[in-house]
Amino acid sequence: MTHFPEGFLWGGALAANQVEGAWDVDGKGPSVADVATYKPDLDLTEYSAHHVVSAELVRAALSDKDTTWYPKRRGNDFYHRWREDLDLFAEMGFNTLRVSVAWSRLFPTGEEVEPNPAGVRFYADLFRGMRDRGIEPLVTLSHYEMPAALSLKYNGWEDRTVLGHFERFARVCFLEFGADVKLWLTFNEIDSITRHPFTSGGILPDLSRDGEQQAIYRALHHQFLASAQAVKLARELVPDAKVGCMLTKITTYPRTCRPDDVLATLEKNLENYFYTDVHVHGTYPPMMIKKLQGAGIVVPWRDGDEEILKDGTVDFISFSYYMSMTESVDPDAERTPGNTILGVKNPYLKSSEWGWQIDPVGLQTSLIELYDRYGLPLMIVENGLGTKDELVDGKVHDPYRIAYFKAHLEQMSEAIAKGVDLVGYTSWGPIDLISASTSQMTKRYGFIYVDADDVGRGTYDRYRKDSFGWYQRVIASNGVEL
Ligand code: BG6
Repeated sequence: MTHFPEGFLWGGALAANQVEGAWDVDGKGPSVADVATYKPDLDLTEYSAHHVVSAELVRAALSDKDTTWYPKRRGNDFYHRWREDLDLFAEMGFNTLRVSVAWSRLFPTGEEVEPNPAGVRFYADLFRGMRDRGIEPLVTLSHYEMPAALSLKYNGWEDRTVLGHFERFARVCFLEFGADVKLWLTFNEIDSITRHPFTSGGILPDLSRDGEQQAIYRALHHQFLASAQAVKLARELVPDAKVGCMLTKITTYPRTCRPDDVLATLEKNLENYFYTDVHVHGTYPPMMIKKLQGAGIVVPWRDGDEEILKDGTVDFISFSYYMSMTESVDPDAERTPGNTILGVKNPYLKSSEWGWQIDPVGLQTSLIELYDRYGLPLMIVENGLGTKDELVDGKVHDPYRIAYFKAHLEQMSEAIAKGVDLVGYTSWGPIDLISASTSQMTKRYGFIYVDADDVGRGTYDRYRKDSFGWYQRVIASNGVEL
């Protein structure tokens, strides 16, 4: 027996830059995602080494029209195949789908006064298409898709000017799509700006006025303000909408009960809560203020910012959950890669082929902690297993994916039984897409296989994996048949 409430939202989650492709079609401008390259033979323990970025490299990438080595420029061709894909999602029983609006499809450089009509039409059709199929759109305003021009001109979110451009973008989204879209998220994994400042915030180290760290926290403050302003704007323009924040939930355990490990773990977890604290309470938590001061970081507060944050607190909390992490002060503790981080290995957990530690119980822990801390409805808007799948005679047998989801759904059910107000679940990448961190196509998350490889060869035809039928049964039984 499981405990999913009636009306539970079941679906999947996508990001425009990882699926749409059509990077320069119908007036779309290039985004920061379109300059990310695929590198064969990735060393997963050297994540940052693969993300070396500078204004010069961005300019060179923008003058190159290649799509082979820039996989996010081609995605999985959702831009042209979205009707077929929505049909497949509807066949699985989805009653929600998370997607994002590519900012540069509406505002190619970010600074136009009026939006690109073809971009507006694309999303209006997409959201109507979801509604027609009984799928509630859940839309992220910002998912690693800032117009590249804003990155080069302003060093992305470091400059406060960008706030105004984002507000104009958000306003157009609410006005144009608000009739169909009632669930919104502001910034995907807003915390990720500290891990990949360019992808999340358009920040280029060589354009950062007084160092990258300072630029990151300046940009983050601007994103907090933009998020709060978007919440307020949504309340005015789409009064029946609900707006949530979105966090990378990484629950961290101490490697041992050595007090130093426990203290280091506490700091990691407090840091992870910083972002939801600001979104829910509308203030920076006291220990974070001290920590930033201690590090010599100046948060660019201006008169009125406190009110903006207070006036724009969120209706619900959403988060991604892929893994837990472990902390230790022992410099020799064994390390493992994770979701764009390198951390300490947990001997009790198995890892994915990409090193991410699989921990379903950690999901229950995270749900309980988040709900007890904030008392707001929760939504898991990303969770899943990136693996290499094999297509043989039109079939993909993926028992490992089914086992992964089953274990996580069981933990969600237990959390609900204990009282957590969990309202929805969208698995990450219900159809194979381009990886955010590695730009690989062959790191597959989907219930639907896409016939394409890392350099774009293939038919792009869609195939139902075994997990497709499994998830269909889960949804049809509202989570009873796991
Ligand atoms: C999340 C991002 O961190 O992880 C997604 O919001 C991303 O955009 C997902 O795709 C999985 O990460 P990856 O690197 O395997 O694509």
